[in-house]
Amino acid sequence: MSSAPLTRSEVFGQLRRELYGDAPSNEGSAHLFIILGASGDLAKKKIYPTLWWLFRDGLLPENTHFVGFARSKFGVDDIKKACLPYMKVAEDEGESLSAFFRRNSYLSGRYDDAGSFSRLNAHLSSLPGGGDANRLFYLALPPTVYHHVSANIGTLCMSPKGWTRVIVEKPFGRDLQSSQELSVHLASLFKEEQIYRIDHYLGKEMVQNLMVLRFGNRIFGPIWNRNSVAAVVLTFKEPFGTQGRGGYFDDFGIIRDVMQNHLLQMLSLVAMEKPASTSSDDVRDEKVKVLKCVAPVAMSDVVLGQYVGDPEGQGPAQLGYLDDPTVPQGSCTPTFATAVLYVRNERWDGVPFILRCGKALNERKAEVRLQFTDVPGDIFAERCMRNELVVRVQPDEAIYLKMTTKKPGVYFSPEETELDLTYKSRYKDVKLPDAYERLILDVFCGSQMHFVRSDELREAWRIFTPLLHHIESQKIPPVPYTYGSRGPAEADSLVQSVGFRYGGTYKWVKPHSACL
Ligand code: NDP
Ligand code: BG6
Repeated sequence: MSSAPLTRSEVFGQLRRELYGDAPSNEGSAHLFIILGASGDLAKKKIYPTLWWLFRDGLLPENTHFVGFARSKFGVDDIKKACLPYMKVAEDEGESLSAFFRRNSYLSGRYDDAGSFSRLNAHLSSLPGGGDANRLFYLALPPTVYHHVSANIGTLCMSPKGWTRVIVEKPFGRDLQSSQELSVHLASLFKEEQIYRIDHYLGKEMVQNLMVLRFGNRIFGPIWNRNSVAAVVLTFKEPFGTQGRGGYFDDFGIIRDVMQNHLLQMLSLVAMEKPASTSSDDVRDEKVKVLKCVAPVAMSDVVLGQYVGDPEGQGPAQLGYLDDPTVPQGSCTPTFATAVLYVRNERWDGVPFILRCGKALNERKAEVRLQFTDVPGDIFAERCMRNELVVRVQPDEAIYLKMTTKKPGVYFSPEETELDLTYKSRYKDVKLPDAYERLILDVFCGSQMHFVRSDELREAWRIFTPLLHHIESQKIPPVPYTYGSRGPAEADSLVQSVGFRYGGTYKWVKPHSACL
């Protein structure tokens, strides 16, 4: 007997129960998703496409409407035109796409104008079920207007009967003081459980996997500490430069753009103790505790770099950071940084956590790497390389453990090899959702586990603010590195000096393509 297909609300309710094990709450209510900054780059490249995918896959509550708000005098058709190139619409999805855009409306107004927000509020109330609807506001905006916009939402646009949640994009300030000011401001308008600070790395499959890998296996627990781990390396690499985004980037630099948030989030998931439960606050309590054990980074533990053009490179690779017309002349902003942090607690004392990130490097890669100590009492004439556990976040998600085996055959000598969990071969038919899809769904469901709490943010800025102020006040010149290289050699020397050992002998044999 075939049962009737589930409605969207039923799917959403089921998903919510599966994900969070809680009782159905308000999946039947209307929801309004408001994108502030709807005409912008983030909105068109990420937010609208994500909402479309969630809508298309039936993952949102039934009665959900989307409202764009920005200064431009746009209509829904303009939004559609701007977003379409990023929406990946299949040929047979035309009808569903039209249904999605029928749920959309757009209002133009000023961010600092109370009248504009009163109109927005009236518009929200006029939508089907709007008076009682839950409201989700996405601030896809430059930080300069956060204060006005959040104040206008807080005073004029809160849901009269349902809940209101506010999603805030980074940058959350530019140092400890400005971030604290923003936090105090937001806290005067919303409760912490209404504020969802996005760090999209927390929405990535392998970043979310860190907790399950660590706390769902017996084998890792006993070696996950200073007795067995020689170094932890957290890496972010991009093979392209600022490409016209230099104006924004120059004001922030790679430490604020990637290290202080994405890499530090990964660090806290690698280093934290097991939480009492998987509830959002239990998890975040442990992350905060780890960060509290990290001293501010010292300049002596840092190498900064800035890319220069490669005269033999192709196209953009010929241009250095300073050749970008949107970058101020003579800028000292780093586009590469390696920093060594120490977690001074019983588990990690003395173990270097090496954070490396950069633009215009040799490849695209984000990974977590634990390098284990040498085997004590060696009997193989120092031919065994150190074990490494690598969680490859992107591209091509994988977990691999570099290890030693007997060279197969008549030999009795050690050889480097790996235990390899390549997602594309083990989970052939699984489509991994984009980070934003998971995170936006979390906001609908009310789960804050993968969002940054205010005390976490404060600790993150405490760790990096003295370094950032020192770099900026002293105008520390970054080391030049060539576009498309691995970054400055000085960074490898630093990494080596704190105990990471690069063998240079490991070769991965990619499984036959038929297996993938
Ligand atoms: P490597 O031994 O090549 O690299 C180990 C680490 O050393 C990396 O962090 C690398 O950083 C760093 N390194 C490289 N050169 C130097 C240097 N001169 N001085 C100091 N450090 C250096 O092993 P990998 O684990 O990286 O594996 C090699 C390749 O095989 C990778 O591309 C990996 O993704 C692939 N592989 C993929 C698997 C899968 O997808 N399932 C499984 C196993 C391996 P840097 O990033 O800067 O080069
Ligand atoms: C953003 C940074 O937070 O992350 C960008 O501002 C960077 O500079 C981007 O390119 C990388 O994200 P992803 O998901 O492509 O690794």
